[in-house]
This record gives sequence, C-alpha cells and structure tokens, in this order.
Amino acid sequence: TVIRRGDYQAPSYQVSEIALDVRLDPDNTEVHTRLQLHRIAPEPVAELHLDGESLELLGLQRDGQALAESAYRLTEGGLLLLNPPEAFILESRVRIHPRANTALSGLYHAGGQFLTQCEAEGFRRITYYLDRPDCLARFTVTLHAPQDSCPVLLANGNCMATGVEEGGWHWARWEDPYPKPAYLFAMVAGDLAVVRDRYRTASGREVALEIYVAERDTGACAQAMDSLKHAMRWDEEVYGREYDLNRYMIVATDSFNMGAMENKGLNIFNAKYVLASPETATDSDYQGIESVIAHEYFHNWTGNRVTLRDWFQLSLKEGLTVFRDQEFSADQNSRGVQRIGDVRRLRAAQFPEDAGPLAHPVRPDAYSEINNFYTATVYEKGAELVRMMHTLLGNVPFRKGMDLYFERHDGHAVTIEDFIAAMEDANQRDLSGFRRWYGQAGTPVVRATGSYDPARHSYTLTLHQETPATPGQPVKEAVPIPVRMALLNTQGQRVPLEVVGGASETVLLLEQSEQSWNFANLPGPVIPSLLRGFSAPVRLQDSLDDDAHGFLARHDDDPFNRWESMQDLAVKALLAAVADSSVAPLPITLRNAVAATLADRQVDPAFCAELLTLPGEDYIGEQMPVVAVEAIHRARDGMMRAIGRHFAKEWTGLYHDLAAAYQRDGLSIGRRRLRNLALAYLIAGEGNSREGAILHARQQYIQADNMTDRLAAFQLLAQHRHHDAEDVILDFYQRWHEYPLVIDKWFAIQAAAPYPKTLRQVEHLLVHPAFDWRVPNRVRAVLGAFAANPTVFHAADGSGYTFFAEQIRRLDDINPQTAARLATPLSRWQRYDAPRQQAMVTALKILAGKPGLSRDLAEVIQRSHPE
Ligand code: ARG
Ligand code: ZN
Repeated sequence: TVIRRGDYQAPSYQVSEIALDVRLDPDNTEVHTRLQLHRIAPEPVAELHLDGESLELLGLQRDGQALAESAYRLTEGGLLLLNPPEAFILESRVRIHPRANTALSGLYHAGGQFLTQCEAEGFRRITYYLDRPDCLARFTVTLHAPQDSCPVLLANGNCMATGVEEGGWHWARWEDPYPKPAYLFAMVAGDLAVVRDRYRTASGREVALEIYVAERDTGACAQAMDSLKHAMRWDEEVYGREYDLNRYMIVATDSFNMGAMENKGLNIFNAKYVLASPETATDSDYQGIESVIAHEYFHNWTGNRVTLRDWFQLSLKEGLTVFRDQEFSADQNSRGVQRIGDVRRLRAAQFPEDAGPLAHPVRPDAYSEINNFYTATVYEKGAELVRMMHTLLGNVPFRKGMDLYFERHDGHAVTIEDFIAAMEDANQRDLSGFRRWYGQAGTPVVRATGSYDPARHSYTLTLHQETPATPGQPVKEAVPIPVRMALLNTQGQRVPLEVVGGASETVLLLEQSEQSWNFANLPGPVIPSLLRGFSAPVRLQDSLDDDAHGFLARHDDDPFNRWESMQDLAVKALLAAVADSSVAPLPITLRNAVAATLADRQVDPAFCAELLTLPGEDYIGEQMPVVAVEAIHRARDGMMRAIGRHFAKEWTGLYHDLAAAYQRDGLSIGRRRLRNLALAYLIAGEGNSREGAILHARQQYIQADNMTDRLAAFQLLAQHRHHDAEDVILDFYQRWHEYPLVIDKWFAIQAAAPYPKTLRQVEHLLVHPAFDWRVPNRVRAVLGAFAANPTVFHAADGSGYTFFAEQIRRLDDINPQTAARLATPLSRWQRYDAPRQQAMVTALKILAGKPGLSRDLAEVIQRSHPE
C-alpha cells in the first residue's frame, strides 16, 4: 500500500498520557500500556485505529473492564476500536520477542542489552498505539529487569523512582515532562558503565551528561563528551537554544541500523559515532563523532521541541539539522575543508540518486515504507535548501526566521510550509520559489556563458537553468538559484563590482530559466569565479577553458572554487584518457596546477590534500553518458601513477617532512592526511620509488602510534596489486580482533580491493568467524564496501551482481531495512552498458521473486525497475 502526502488527515483522537510497564526478558517481554484517549474530531467516529505490528495480544480493557469482543477487531496493521466513547482509558497487555527482533526496529535485544529504535514506525512493534508523529503525549515508563544482567534501566526524561522486587529483579520509573510523538520514545536496559560530566546552560541549568558504554570502553568517550559540550554551547550562542532537561544520556551499541537517534534525553548511537581512541579511530572517525553527536543534540530543538506533522515532512527536521551540524563543524574546524567534504558527499550520494529511478523530491509525495526515505535527498539536499535560504537572507535575518519558527511552533507538529512561512514572515521576504525546490526532484543544470567587452570595460554573464525530467515529473519549473560570485583580475584579485556598491563578491539570484547581468567599469579583463562555496546544489557548466581553470586552481580565494577548478582539470583529463587510452595521463595544465599547489607554502595541509586528491571513479563515471567501468579505473590509475612519478621528489620530501608524533589538533590532522596522500602517490608511482615506498608503508603500519596512519598504510598494502600482504592482513586481525569497529575496517578494506580475486575473498569474509549477519555495521563493512567497489561489483561477466543479489536475499530475512538500503546500487543499472544492464536487471528480478520479500526491499526493487 502506498501512502500519499495529499491524503493526510488529522487524528480523530489524541493521547494525553501514556504509561508503559515493561517486564524485560530477551525471549518474552510483556508490555502493559495504559492510554488516556480523548476525541478531538468534532463528531463521533465509527472506529479508531491503533497501530500494532508483530504483537501478541494478551488482554484489553476499557475503563477498567475487559473489552467485549464486539468492541474491537484485530487487523493487518493493528487494532480497530469500534464506536469508541469520547474519552476513555485503554489498557493493553502484549507479548513481544526482543531477541528474535533482528530487524532492530522496536524493542530488541543485542549484545546483552535491551534497546529500542522507534523512528520511524518502530513503536507499534512495542505496543498498540497512535504511532504517528502528530500524536504528542506525556510518557511514563516503568522498566523491570533482572538486577544482575540489567543493572542499568533507562528511559526518556527524569528517573522518578526505583526499587527492588522478588527473584533478583529491580525496576525504575521514568517520566518525560515534554509531550512527544512515539518515534522519540526510548528505553535501554543492560550492564553498562557510564562516563559522567556536567554542563551549565547559559541560564544556569545544571545538566548531567552521561555516556553509557561497555565497561572496557569508558576510556574512549572523550571525543563524544567534548563534542556534546561544544554542541550545547554552540546552539546557545548561534541560535539561542538551551537544553531543557536535567540529564542528557547517550547509549552506544554495536547493533544499530543507522548512525544515531535523537530520542528525547536518551540518544541511542551506533558505537561508531561514540567510541574513539587514537589507537582505534582515524581522524575522520573523530570528525564523524563530532558531527553526529552535534546532529542528534541539535534535534532537541529541530525535531523534538518542534516536530513533524507527518513523515513527508522528514526533511523539516533532517535537512535543517544537517545544515546546523554542518555549520557547527565548519565553526569548529576549517570552513573551506568542511564545505568541500559536504559537497563531495552530496555529489557522491545525492546527485546519483536524483538522476536515477529512486529520485524523489526533498518532500516526497508518496511512499510505501518510510524507512526508504531516509535518503541523501531528504538529508543532504534538504540541508542545501536551508543553506540557500540562509545565503539569500543572510545570517541575522535567517536567525530571525528561526526565532519566529520556534516561537510559533514550539510543542507542535508542523510542516515544511510552516518553516518557509516563518522565514518569510520574519523578514517580509518572498521565498515562495523554495516551495518548488522542496517539491521538485532532479538536479538543475546551470550553464554559464560570459564575455568581456574591452571597448566598454564590461563583462556580461548569462546564466541558464534547466532541470532534467525525473520519474513521475516530466516537466520542471525554474527554481531560485543563488549564485555567489566574484570577478578576478589577471593577478587573481577580486575586482570591485559597481552594481553592488563596490563590494567584490555578490549573490546573483537566478530565478528565470535564463538571465543576464552586466558588470560595468571594470579595470580590465576578468575571470569569473561562480557558485562560490557551492552556493546551490546544481551542476554548473561554466564554459571556461583549461587555462582559466588552471588560473582559478591557483588564484581563486574561495577555497571551494579553487578545489573545484582543480577537480575540473582532473576530470577533463581523465575523461580524455577514458575516451582514448593513448592520451597522456597528465596534461600540462594539470601538471602545472599540481606543481603550483605543491610549491605553495601558504596553503593549509588539509586543504592541500583536498586539492591533490583525484576525483573518485564514481564521480568520473557520473560525468559520462555510459559508465566505462574498466577504462575509468585504468585512467585514474594512470593519472595517479603519472603524478606519483613526476613529483616523486616532492612526495618523498613531504612524506619525511610531515612525520610527527601524534597530536589531535587541526594542523596535525591535515599533516597526517597530506603525508598519507604522499605515500599513496609514491606507491602508485611504481618505478624506482615504489619498492622504497612499500617499505615505508610496512614500517608505518608497524610503528604507527595512531589508527589514521596505521590504517592508511594497511589499506595501501592490502589493496596493492604487486604486493602480497597476507601477513599484514593476518597481523591486523590479530591485533584488533577485540575491537569490532576496527575489525569493520579490516573487512571493508578487503572488500574494496580492486581486483577480480576480491569476489572470492568476499565469499571467505562472509563465512569468517567474526562475520555476523545480525550486526549491520559488519554487514555494511562487507556488502556495502563490495557494492562500492567499481571494478568488482561491476565485473563485466555479471558475477558481482549475482553474488550480491544472493546476499541481499539472505539479509532481507534478517534485517529488511538494511537490506533495502544496501540494495540501492542496483537501481543505477541504466548508467551501464547493455550486458551489465541486463545482469543488473536480472539481479533485481531475482530479488523481486524472493518468497517473503519485505515491504522495504520490495519498494526499492519496484522503483528501481518498474514494470
Ligand atoms: N533521526 C535519526 C537521525 O538523526 C535517524 C533515524 C532513522 N532511523 C530509521 N530507522 N529510519 O538522523
Ligand atoms: Zn537526524
């Protein structure tokens, strides 16, 4: 069944109070629920539907009396109460099976702990309820469990009372003073250690901060705790938002479908985004923790205090909160490098999604399984839409809009429309064009042409926009596109622009399908720097030649655009080499740009590493009408080799000069990154330098005092074609086998090795004793890395697809949500040559025919290949 946005109906009843009493047992947990319901529809209704899924009903009472059989009906999706009175108390008792819940939605038992995941629709797997985001209620929860296996009992809000009971059990009662939708409910029970800290809010509230982890991990919580405190301070300073409870709890688990969950006062996290020590976590792991901790914290206002009317509005909280966490990270680290990373992720995940059969608007129109819409479009493109409004309005007016949004909607379940309206009303601005951005799928293409008129000393810029058709949306309208720009003179300086009072940077708003701007009284010829900071989520075709890009790659003072020019040069050269394998792998313009970057002593090492990192194979493939799998791989390899050789002296110098004892500041992180890039180029360089570089890598692998360096070396060795790294692979496992997050890396690196024999290797990995189908991190490490391995997944004989489909089929019985998500690479079949298309479609069809196919996977397959 398909749910449509236009079919929204307000609930006919509301729940004012819900009291849960849960006796936790891994095999048979009993949930006793007491609901206070009252009608809000003006007229009596014939039936009231309560959601329920996989529940064993033990008893039902209304106002203290057993409910007559004639007063209710069990249905596919729950329970129908017939002719419900205007106000009543409903009590239900159900039995559920947490250990058997390998879908990890609802209440599950994993790794000795009880955990919940209720977003989006998991609460209905715990009890019968109005499981919809516009139903806000006050929750009280009493948990009972054996004291020895579950000394810790947690739920949302405040702990009101605890006690012991017979048989070695104990209990705890929690109350959340803030009414909330069921998707924000959480409870946790287990044998957990806690790391504590305190935070004092701007207005003086003392907040206890608690991170719950396994005893042996208590030493690995510092990054999470610091990030939390920084995020709390940042939200006060930048948005004037304080935390609103006396306790903020975070629980880490190895068994989690996504990254983390913002349950009120009790976040549950994938351990990957909590635990870090220099020995076990890389610099990017540390950054991931900082941003996800902040993301979940920021949800307390954008998501929890102001929540969603229905799931079509998902981006109202996710896009906005991603925008907030990106800005937080930009403030904590280097803004330019942060932006490059954000755009890289957008292009890697969202652009392909927007260009394929799974394309959907940021505010979708229909779904059959909402979990399939936790996508890069809803999250990352959603963040870009908020960012564009921010760009157009400016900092202070944007903040005014946010203040009005909170003032109007605190405690309510609202829509994206309400958000735009708040931004408009606070600033008397018309942002109606953004309603189209939210409703229209597809990535606009912006074509720019410009010319300098030497006689008039003026430059004319013409911008044209067009959005390609997407499934179900053949015709597209123009959208408002803010194009941040500057004009650079031949020395690379920004020239004053008369039209904006002499400022040297401005934002043009492209609203029509085509518009032109004229910049007069210029001092001389200029080169345009367009879409600075990637001011809109579009594909820009700038019609500049290689010389202009080479110039911008050296001189543009906008870090994003400088990086982008470098990427453009590399992409052009790579595409030429893909089309004709006899083309020189390192054209002179690119070589000069690389030389200039290597010689530039001003440039920050992290940014330098970004500039010198070649675009990935996927991104190159994105620029082609048909992805030339092998040729792309060869061309990129060839370019790596050429850059490695040509600059062998420079790379060697960098490798030695940047060696340093481990420190965690931004500069040290950048230096590690650049040094490991140097090592990668040296190894790619082959010839004389290679053998030496492999020795360096072996030495680095053994001697590293941190995981960033150790893993970089391990990856180079384990994925190197001319090198037998069996001993290193074994050593890595033996060193780290007690650290699941590290072993995930071990699995992923092997599954990502770009050789035909990898398929066989992956088959072995799936029967390795440390492999576990029930742990999503582990499954993603192998199957996710495999599907992202361009030459192996897309092997010409189709073996990768067949193998992959078999594994997804198996996973679907265990964890449908993760199976559906992992299967999405098959949706890109239209991008490949005919034999591959056929093999991919066959794989989809095999999956479609699976007995007991989940709704999650069925929807992905159906949309990937409708027929
Ligand atoms: N709201 C969570 C976040 O911070 C994501 C949870 C999604 N979970 C799911 N099963 N769909 O982004
Ligand atoms: Zn989120």
